[in-house]
Amino acid sequence: MSTVLVTGSSRGIGRAIARKFYSEGYNLVINYNRRDDLVDELEREFPGALIVKADISSEEDVERLFRAAEERFLGIDVLVNNAGISESGLFIDKDRNDYDRIVGINVYGMLNCTKQALKLMLRKKKGSIVNISSIWGDKGASCESLYSLTKGAVNAFTRSIAKEYAEENIRVNAVMPGFIDTEMNSGYTADERKALEDAIPLGRAGTPEEVADLVYFLAGDQASYITGQLIYCDGGWSVE
Ligand SMILES: NC(=O)c1ccc[n+]([C@@H]2O[C@H](COP(=O)([O-])OP(=O)(O)OC[C@H]3O[C@@H](n4cnc5c(N)ncnc54)[C@H](OP(=O)(O)O)[C@@H]3O)[C@@H](O)[C@H]2O)c1
Repeated sequence: MSTVLVTGSSRGIGRAIARKFYSEGYNLVINYNRRDDLVDELEREFPGALIVKADISSEEDVERLFRAAEERFLGIDVLVNNAGISESGLFIDKDRNDYDRIVGINVYGMLNCTKQALKLMLRKKKGSIVNISSIWGDKGASCESLYSLTKGAVNAFTRSIAKEYAEENIRVNAVMPGFIDTEMNSGYTADERKALEDAIPLGRAGTPEEVADLVYFLAGDQASYITGQLIYCDGGWSVE
């Protein structure tokens, strides 16, 4: 039986990814950081899953997370680097604390988890990593410059690591979602939301499940000849 570890899978896109793999019979490692209140619900939805509270920006927490996964499931086959935070506002108003916070989670978090996953995958000479980037990592977003910076780093890292570990039979790809219906976007007013949806060729926000289906495809053997790719899941938003 294969094992998947999904960071930030207590809610949103990560939870939909967890649900997809679980429904396909994978052993599941769920990770979250703050929302202890969701643990009972997660245990009910995913019997047998390992649920680990760990801040991915902390190297110690991530080592503990992967040790727990190894002890329970003897390693992992798939890592989904999903956990992330967003930000908004003018760059001129941001300071070093703002930089550290978002880079700490979106970039250092991915680095911490990827290193631990590679150690386990190199032993098996097989593995697959899917990074959750964003349309803004490629296009750049006004008033989300730090977020765009971190997702640009995700994209460059995806390509580099894909090249570095291809000969070890480890594939690495990224998904770049557009506007997806999760708590991350709950701050928009109805008018702002309408404006966003009007800009999207398919005319609506995406669902977490639509991202999860793509992640599942990329992670598994169906995508055995795909590595180093950055794939949009955005209703056509990126098309110019
Ligand atoms: N929603 C969109 O429109 C959209 C578009 C493009 C890309 N994305 C990307 O998709 C990913 C998921 O986004 P989402 O919309 O599902 O976000 P979300 O609804 O805000 O959920 C974020 C998840 O990440 C976890 N998390 C946050 N900080 C963490 C940390 N330091 N350590 C471990 N887990 C942490 C949260 O757990 P806790 O609640 O316990 O903290 C939660 O499970 C992110 O990388 C985001 O950048 C989203």
